[in-house]
Amino acid sequence: MDKEDIIKKTKKFAKDKLYGEGTGHDWWHTLRVWQMAKKIGKKEGADLFVVELSALLHDIADWKFQDGGDDSVGAMMAKEWLEKFNVDNNALSHICQIIIEISFKGAGVQDKLNSIEAKVVQDADRLDAMGAMGISRCFAYGGSQGRQIYDPNTKPKMHKSFEEYKKSDSSSINHFYEKLLILKDRMNTKTGKLMAGERHKFMERYLDRFFREWEGKV
Ligand code: NI
Repeated sequence: MDKEDIIKKTKKFAKDKLYGEGTGHDWWHTLRVWQMAKKIGKKEGADLFVVELSALLHDIADWKFQDGGDDSVGAMMAKEWLEKFNVDNNALSHICQIIIEISFKGAGVQDKLNSIEAKVVQDADRLDAMGAMGISRCFAYGGSQGRQIYDPNTKPKMHKSFEEYKKSDSSSINHFYEKLLILKDRMNTKTGKLMAGERHKFMERYLDRFFREWEGKV
């Protein structure tokens, strides 16, 4: 099977699995990440086959399954899927490694990425957690986990470990400070950094307005 067919089949696999998902990790998120990863990957001269498959499979595990659980489930599922095709072993293990490496593990936890392909897919995924898209997904995810929109009595926390981050139940507005506003300075590629700047500013404008409305000023 040629590479294009494998990507096409993987696209259908991800769509069937994630369509209608309600936490912001749905098929449309995966589609946007795939498109953005292709765009950044071309500019960065990355291996597009690895980039595209990693992007399509990066959220394949059921999110509730991953949440608070084993973050290697997604990589295992991707491996199982790709073993059906003649993907060479190097590409296969590279893709699985990317899926494990790219997730956000807490404000105080450094990223450890081993390849340009991982950097590209992480940037694409993170851009979708920023700007108008990030705001929408933040509240969708918060709601799905029973989190409050905002609670002035609970201050944001800079999580020092992935365990601590996963257990967090603070409000969706706190999530901006615990993750979304930090992403701008964690981007890897030139294209990613450029796009993140604009999305970051939009979130700042949104928060400014949110608090002015909260206080009844506008
Ligand atoms: Ni994602």
